[in-house]
Amino acid sequence: MSKEPQGKELNWKTRVGGQVDGKPVVRGYPLDDLVGRVSFAEAIFLILKGELPSEREKKMMEAMLVACIDNGIGPPSVVAARTVFSGGNPLNAAVGAGVLTLGDSHGGAIEQCARIYQENFPADVVDIRAHAKAVVEEFDKKKKRLPGYGHKLYKRDPRTLRLLELAKEYGYMGRFVEFAVAVQDELEAKSGKNLPLNVDGMIAAVISEMGLSWKNGKGLFIIGRIPGLVAHVVEEWEREKPFRRLEEGTYAYDGTPVRPVPGTR
Ligand SMILES: CC(C)(COP(=O)(O)OP(=O)(O)OC[C@H]1O[C@@H](n2cnc3c(N)ncnc32)[C@H](O)[C@@H]1OP(=O)(O)O)[C@@H](O)C(=O)NCCC(=O)NCCS
Repeated sequence: MSKEPQGKELNWKTRVGGQVDGKPVVRGYPLDDLVGRVSFAEAIFLILKGELPSEREKKMMEAMLVACIDNGIGPPSVVAARTVFSGGNPLNAAVGAGVLTLGDSHGGAIEQCARIYQENFPADVVDIRAHAKAVVEEFDKKKKRLPGYGHKLYKRDPRTLRLLELAKEYGYMGRFVEFAVAVQDELEAKSGKNLPLNVDGMIAAVISEMGLSWKNGKGLFIIGRIPGLVAHVVEEWEREKPFRRLEEGTYAYDGTPVRPVPGTR
C-alpha cells in the first residue's frame, strides 16, 4: 500500500495513478509491468475506466480510436491548428488550438449524445422505437439539434457503418446501439432530411454499452484526434510557407459602404 505522508493534510488525492515504493503505478498496476504487455488502447481504457479491458472491449476501443484519427484538412480543428502554426507559433500551441475547437458541432457531440443515451433512456424502456420517437419529438419541439446525427459530407457515415459491423462482431449491438439507430430512423422520418448517425453518435452508443460515463466522450475524441492534428501541424511546418491566409476572391467585405469619418469632409 502507498504510504501517506505523515503530518500533512492530503488535499490532492487521486485514484488514477501515483508512485508506490518509488515506482509509477496506474490504476493499481505497476507501469513498468504494463509497458510492453498492453496496447495503447488497453492502457487508455484502463486509465479512463479503472480496469483493464476484456478482449472485445480492447478491440472495440482500438476501432473507435482509429475512427477518430483524421477526417481531412477541412474540419475546424485542423484549420485552426494549421493556421495557428502558420502564424508563427510552436506545435503545442497549434495542436492546443485545434483541440480548443472541439465543441458541440465537432467531436464534442460524443459527450452530449452519450449523455442523452445514458440519462434520457431509462433501463426499463421496453419499446425502444417509441422512446426514440419521443426523444426526436422533444428535440424538435425545442428546435434543438440532436447531437450525434447529421454530417456535412456523408449521407451515411462510413466510419459509423464500419463500427456497426464491428459492434456486431464483438457483441456490442445492445440496447444503446439499437436506440441510436432507432433515433436516426425517427429523425430522418420526421425531418425528411438525411441525418445519419455519425461517428460521434456511434461512439457515444458504444461507450454507453461499455459502461463508460458520458463525461469521457469528448476526451475520447481528443485522444483519438491528437495524432491527426500533430501530423497536420508537422506537414504545415514542412510543406507550407508561414502566414497562410484566405485566398483573394474567396472572401469579401459586405458591410456598410465606405463613408466619411465625421469631421473629415
Ligand atoms: C454535423 C452538422 C454540423 C452538419 O450540418 P450540415 O450538414 O451542414 O447541415 P445544416 O447545418 O446545413 O442543417 C441542415 C438542416 O438539417 C437540420 N439538422 C442538421 N443536423 C441536425 C441534427 N443533428 N438534428 C436535427 N436537425 C438537424 C438543420 O436544423 C437544418 O434544418 P433547416 O434546413 O430546416 O434549417 C449538423 O448535422 C449538426 O449540427 N449535427 C449535430 C452535431 C454533431 O453530431 N456533430 C458531429 C459531427 S461528426
